[in-house]
Amino acid sequence: MLPADARLFGLIPAAGHGARMGAPLPKQYLSLHGRTLAEHTVSRLLACSRLDSLVVAIADSDHWWPALPVSRQRRVITATGGDTRADSVLRGLNALPDARDSDWVLVHDMARPCVRLSDIDKLLRETGEQGAILALPVTDTIKQADDHSRIQATLPRSQVWRALTPQLFPVGPLRLALTQAHERGIEITDEASAMEAQGWHPALVTGSADNIKVTWPSDLPLAGFYLRAQQEEA
Ligand code: CTP
Ligand code: MG
Repeated sequence: MLPADARLFGLIPAAGHGARMGAPLPKQYLSLHGRTLAEHTVSRLLACSRLDSLVVAIADSDHWWPALPVSRQRRVITATGGDTRADSVLRGLNALPDARDSDWVLVHDMARPCVRLSDIDKLLRETGEQGAILALPVTDTIKQADDHSRIQATLPRSQVWRALTPQLFPVGPLRLALTQAHERGIEITDEASAMEAQGWHPALVTGSADNIKVTWPSDLPLAGFYLRAQQEEA
């Protein structure tokens, strides 16, 4: 459970260029059902009333974000991201207004527009002191390979999860973990891996399979399908 006296911030790294999507603009500004992915994602986080404010870390060259009305919403703060996702998160942490080390932050990819408020609430409820992430147990059998795509081992499936976002951690320890990972040259692809490098054991909270990260062109119609299905559920 999130400590009752902690403030909760949101942080969205959104400084990527969407190379794998191959679109003429960053993927977060592509539209689905009349709204950009960025608008879908931000409105889902803002639906969490516990959020004090939401920092969005964008690329220096980004002229699409300031043009969206959502960028001027009351709780939204714009910051400048960096060259890697971890760098964008670190810069975003430094832009949290008056955050204490003991406050908490929910980090969520801009490229995941289908995140459910009920899963965010579950994450806040189920976190332990060492933080928590939304994740999914794998259903396929997982193989470990060498550099030539030859199988080296089969991983025990019951122990393997896919990490999603949001990921929830206290601000001070996360800032320290990301800074040290950067200094040591450790490649960090999510917040949990930075915390793991510090010896933390964050909790895995089962999320939803529709919380996909829009990455390749074929993910776009899939996200559109999930958004529509969620509307019909409501
Ligand atoms: N991100 C970021 N800063 C970076 C790189 C990525 O803030 N330097 C953000 C992206 O905007 C996205 C999230 O991190 O919201 C997850 O990254 P990913 O899905 O890899 O997005 P891109 O990096 O934009 O895509 P690609 O790797 O295909 O270029
Ligand atoms: Mg990327």
